Amino acid sequence: MAKTAKRHRCIDCGSTTARWAGRCPTCGEWNTLVEESALGPLVRAVDELDLSGMPVPLSSVDLSEAAAVPTGVEEFDRVLSGGLVPGSVTLLGGEPGIGKSTLLLQVLAARAAAGHRVLLVSAEESAHQVRLRAERLGPVPPGLLILSATDVGQVISAVVESEPDLLVIDSIQAVAVGPATPGERRATGVPGSIGQVRECADQLVGLAKARQVATVLVGHVTKDGSLAGPRALEHMVDTVLSFEGDRHHALRLLLAVKHRFGPTGELGLFEMGDQGLNRVDDPGRLLLGDRLTGVPGGVVLPALQGRRTLMVELQALVAPMGQAQPKRSVVGLDAGRLVMTLAVLTRHAGLPMHAVDVFASVAGGIRVTEPAADLALALAVASASTGVALPADLAAVGEVGLAGEVRQVSNLPRRLEEAERLGFGRVVVPASAPGGPSGVELIRVDTVAEAVGRFGCRDARGA
Ligand code: TYD
Ligand code: MG
Repeated sequence: MAKTAKRHRCIDCGSTTARWAGRCPTCGEWNTLVEESALGPLVRAVDELDLSGMPVPLSSVDLSEAAAVPTGVEEFDRVLSGGLVPGSVTLLGGEPGIGKSTLLLQVLAARAAAGHRVLLVSAEESAHQVRLRAERLGPVPPGLLILSATDVGQVISAVVESEPDLLVIDSIQAVAVGPATPGERRATGVPGSIGQVRECADQLVGLAKARQVATVLVGHVTKDGSLAGPRALEHMVDTVLSFEGDRHHALRLLLAVKHRFGPTGELGLFEMGDQGLNRVDDPGRLLLGDRLTGVPGGVVLPALQGRRTLMVELQALVAPMGQAQPKRSVVGLDAGRLVMTLAVLTRHAGLPMHAVDVFASVAGGIRVTEPAADLALALAVASASTGVALPADLAAVGEVGLAGEVRQVSNLPRRLEEAERLGFGRVVVPASAPGGPSGVELIRVDTVAEAVGRFGCRDARGA
């Protein structure tokens, strides 16, 4: 079997050749060709990696290195507890069309406006398209550079060349590393394949560390969060941000799912408008602004999103069965929990739900999957099913067990405070709940049946 040729690099002029020779074919120097190590040439071209791995006292480690630098987009900085750390890698995940490119363009522009050089690598859109979007967002500062490219090698050269202090790759699924040179192990495959995504991320993480450039990778995630690419990167990066919302609604939520430089759980709220994303100080306006009161099927839930509480409206609609099988449909809720809630209402609250279609949703494009939504969901369905409207100033929170019991939820005091702040005078809570703020009457219930009975939601058929 023929030996695989190893690439050699001239230590004088830096050129490479496929096989060793006594004299460099490029510069003509003698004895300057050395074998490339197993490391990919891309990474090495960036910088000689510092492998002086001597242990040092932890106490002597310089903390200033990890200081976050504000980007200028307030909500973004808040979620990152201050801003982006030089040399750090952040993954921004979200569904296609949710506004990832818009958010990052605003971040880049804000940073550039503060006099920094920043680089956007647009692998999905042409420079022309990006310019058009940038025009919508405001003045385009001269320090904002754009490279429309998909090859990671080209990205690395561009970073070495232009030395930006913020680099955005939009998106990690659209970039790729070129074919491997002989003797080198490197992922192949189409852009977006798991091998390519990992390989590219690996190269870009190396680049970020070597050049101390804060790097943000955009990753598209499908609705069920199942797309392998971005998820597979979570362990490789310092920070994972999730950008959520519904593209048919204006509200967008930015959450840190993982953060090596600060706490997670901080929630950033944005509104998508005609000129990009704006911060939202008062989410109630977007979430409860169009609420109809006095009609059956709606109830408000103090929902936790990260460390913040948002008052969201759960709505249910119960209709006669349209087909042979009863239909269950959810928007923004967990389908399994709806099915369970219906079973509990049927079995423990005297409200037969097996022969009706049930639709349930969270208004405003928010997703609520926490079990604490169970009681509100049960009340909304019971109200829709019986045609009895719930009071307008009523909120409900509690987990429901399979025996129909109402259980404790996390962070109840914070939820009650928000309910009080937005003028909800009564909140249905688990019987064991501690006291709440003075402006809120707590309606303690042991079971779903008790909660439902309390508001007169009884089956008209006399079950
Ligand atoms: P985009 O940032 O391209 O989403 P992503 O990168 O996550 O795929 O944004 C997509 C949507 O946002 C698009 O449908 C248009 C809308 N949009 C606005 O409503 N206002 C704006 O100012 C901009 C720039 C976009
Ligand atoms: Mg995009």
